[in-house]
Amino acid sequence: MGTVNIKSFSELKHVSCQTPKHHMKPFELANTWAYQHWREQKLDAYPNHVTELVVDVNDINCLTPIERAALQRCCRKTNMVIYRSQQALVAKDGLQVVCASFGLNRLDKNLYADQEGISALQVSTQQRKYDYIPYSENAIKWHTDGYYNELDAKIRAMVLHCVSPARQGGENTLLDHEVVYLLMRDANPGYIAALMQADVMTIPANIEDGKEIRAAQTGPVFSIDQLSGDLQMRYTSRTRSIHWKRDNMVQSAVRCLEDLLMSDLPAIFTYRLSPNEGILSNNVLHSRTAFKNGPHATEQRLIYRARYYDRIRGTSVFDAQ
Ligand SMILES: [Fe+2]
Repeated sequence: MGTVNIKSFSELKHVSCQTPKHHMKPFELANTWAYQHWREQKLDAYPNHVTELVVDVNDINCLTPIERAALQRCCRKTNMVIYRSQQALVAKDGLQVVCASFGLNRLDKNLYADQEGISALQVSTQQRKYDYIPYSENAIKWHTDGYYNELDAKIRAMVLHCVSPARQGGENTLLDHEVVYLLMRDANPGYIAALMQADVMTIPANIEDGKEIRAAQTGPVFSIDQLSGDLQMRYTSRTRSIHWKRDNMVQSAVRCLEDLLMSDLPAIFTYRLSPNEGILSNNVLHSRTAFKNGPHATEQRLIYRARYYDRIRGTSVFDAQ
């Protein structure tokens, strides 16, 4: 797999002039031409070191058009970018202003987000909150955000901003979900078909003190946004109570995905956020290592997190072509 037939490639260019873009969705399995065209571009100069994802900006509160374009360009390639700001974020709400300048407006208000919808991820002393791993010092396995959301509330973008890191640990690993799709489709298109099934993965209901605070959610791992043609991924490596469809191809696909996530793929990036740094992403796969806070405020991990139903503007699959 992997070589692109030059003749069909030029034919594709011809077709793309005449065919409406929404007919060229590369993530649809039947669309081999569009997929090969997209694949070729995706792999061309794809970063293989995390430093290639870092963009320096002077003031995150007030990005220049050149800085914003550089951030967008990186996101268009890899679905993520790490900004490194000289100036601190003026306030927690300021993150919403930054995000809005990238077309991110529809915030997901999850269980512990404040009224603005931004979560302050820090170790909580409240027992109920501590039970949720993001608010503890424990490691978080690979996942995309909102994998338990209802299907009409998909998280398309996820933003993290670091106010202060832990004394030790708390690194993020990041992997572009489009790269995962590409590698799995190359390995066996049947894996993609299996993981696109509407009943392939069920997340159990969230029950606290005998009361259901979130219903069970069944849905696909990979799905295609019908309007934009963009790929979305819903996944968690957590194994407790996750129910996978009983089907041989599904089991093989899940194993293939787990192997990829455990591998030393150069596209798996590891980064430990420092103060005034953050990650803008189209909800790529990510995980976090365990950490240890120190006694001083500057050694206590505090991360602001915002989740959106929107995708980062200018980073759609058709913007990349
Ligand atoms: Fe997350």
